[in-house]
Amino acid sequence: MKVLITGGAGFLGKKLARRLLEGAELIGPSGQPEPVSELLLFDVVKASGPGLDDPRVHKLAGDIANFATVQSIVQGASTVFHFAAVVSAGAEADFDLGYKVNLDGTRHVLEACRATGSNPRLIFTSSLAAYGGDLPPAVTDDTPLTPQTSYGAQKSIGEFLLRDYTRKGFLRGTAIRLPTICVRTGMPNKAASTWASSMVREPLTGVDAVCPVTPQTIMAVLSPRRTVDAFVRAHNLDTDAFGPGRTLLLNGINVTARQLEETMHRHAGNRRIGKVVWQPDPMVQRICDGWPQGIDSARARRLGFETDRDLDEIVRYFIADDLDEQMKLASRAA
Ligand SMILES: NC(=O)c1ccc[n+]([C@@H]2O[C@H](COP(=O)([O-])OP(=O)(O)OC[C@H]3O[C@@H](n4cnc5c(N)ncnc54)[C@H](O)[C@@H]3O)[C@@H](O)[C@H]2O)c1
Repeated sequence: MKVLITGGAGFLGKKLARRLLEGAELIGPSGQPEPVSELLLFDVVKASGPGLDDPRVHKLAGDIANFATVQSIVQGASTVFHFAAVVSAGAEADFDLGYKVNLDGTRHVLEACRATGSNPRLIFTSSLAAYGGDLPPAVTDDTPLTPQTSYGAQKSIGEFLLRDYTRKGFLRGTAIRLPTICVRTGMPNKAASTWASSMVREPLTGVDAVCPVTPQTIMAVLSPRRTVDAFVRAHNLDTDAFGPGRTLLLNGINVTARQLEETMHRHAGNRRIGKVVWQPDPMVQRICDGWPQGIDSARARRLGFETDRDLDEIVRYFIADDLDEQMKLASRAA
């Protein structure tokens, strides 16, 4: 079974790749679990890092905005995880790039899946940024999508397209609306939410973290472990399980910037930790304030998708799964 991950050199792409290589079971076209015989990691840069040197892995650098390239990588894939994207603040800062990658790129993936004629399984990563405007205290599966950023608009359009291509029988799609995935490994990225991970990751590796929002700012977060569990679980469910919208809103837990700082301190142990520098950035604050402050997905609960117990668990996962790799990255960057 060939599996394609677009954005395969990114944070979630590599996490998922490792889980698949470790033997996570995917239901194949036969309707039974099938071994992953080929795992194609596609991104603008070649994927690298621990756990990816495996004969089943092929790493390819290219542009999702190039349709011919996308057609060639989708060829023969039973499953596509479409993660390639310009993230929130990046898409807000560069309007043209955001639409090229997040909209045209997604359309290319959908068209390439359709052209295979084999009805492949497609998992698309949407975002809480698809919501916006006057929101209830917690968004639900049925809260209307009224995005207030270009990124949110691009993710919403992606969801609508995926729904229609599924309805037409061109592919079997599910869009997963993710909260902020925390703690992220690697360097801070252009997501407006990147500070949530920085507040834990940087200090624990001895580096100062810059927090561009107020201590009271709320963020709904989910650990990468639970997120990858959700990708595999969602993949293996029939698309009908996700209702006519073919979407899955994942629950996260609500935390404030201050709680992130305090929890990081609780897990610091004997480490020499960096400090948190509070440095408000009006653009980041505005984007974050426009996002939902809470999530209540009955569908995710009914289908058995789990959240983290608390923020302590999230920080413990980071220390167990990623801190060593992060220390190496930090020392190379220094
Ligand atoms: N991590 C989160 O908190 C979060 C939250 C909501 C939604 N999402 C979505 O989940 C997906 C994965 O997120 P992530 O955290 O791994 O992001 P990431 O930035 O680490 O990975 C995205 C990857 O897409 C690649 N990419 C960008 N432009 C490309 C192009 N033109 N062609 C090919 N590849 C290109 C990037 O190089 C990057 O490696 C994204 O679609 C993101 O929008 C993530």
